Amino acid sequence: MLDQTALDLLFSQARSHNDFDSTPVGKEQLHALYDLMKMGPTSANCCPARLVFVTSDEAKARLMPHIIESNIEKVTNAPVCAIIANDVKFYDRIPELFPHNPQARDWFTGSEEFAAETAMRNGSLQAAYLMLAARALGLDVGPISGFDANGVNQEFFPDGKWRVNMLCNIGHGRPEAVFERLPRLAFDDACHII
Ligand SMILES: Cc1cc2nc3c(=O)[nH]c(=O)nc-3n(C[C@H](O)[C@H](O)[C@H](O)COP(=O)(O)O)c2cc1C
Repeated sequence: MLDQTALDLLFSQARSHNDFDSTPVGKEQLHALYDLMKMGPTSANCCPARLVFVTSDEAKARLMPHIIESNIEKVTNAPVCAIIANDVKFYDRIPELFPHNPQARDWFTGSEEFAAETAMRNGSLQAAYLMLAARALGLDVGPISGFDANGVNQEFFPDGKWRVNMLCNIGHGRPEAVFERLPRLAFDDACHII
């Protein structure tokens, strides 16, 4: 089991960050981040998440028009904003990702609804893996759903192959800018043991 320091880093003391200092996040760190995130489990090992790490001023300028007002400063100040998308045809990679049963691709080609549900379920899990991996690497994150998805899709994925799920700011957070910790549901409110 991890010690308390590690549990604090990942969960108990970890916060959603609203502002970041100017410490850059290097390409090697983004590779390390993906190399941890990619190991989290997905159904049939389908790995639907795709990432665009927005780091340059040029790329940020393309993203900003699609961010809601209250999030603009948060995205502007983050050294990295990850666009976490799903590959609409994630199942085309199943033969290489699930090689003992390449026919598993057919589970998804028959129903667009089932494919979309699978992509969203597993892509969102992978987004969570990314956040925990970032924290494990000593980075801070600020997840963002306040943006115009159609706008982001048109700007970054005009061919329709990837579809944005959520955004996630990544960097070194400024602790003084986090909000007050909000309550969480008690065990008995959220869990049953049967
Ligand atoms: C999927 C997702 C989307 C979020 N979208 C936003 C957002 O658009 N703007 C924002 O300021 N915070 C956003 N948050 C941050 C949440 O409000 C925050 O995680 C929650 O209040 C818990 O805060 P804590 O992690 O500091 O305890 C989002 C969080 C998640 C997981």
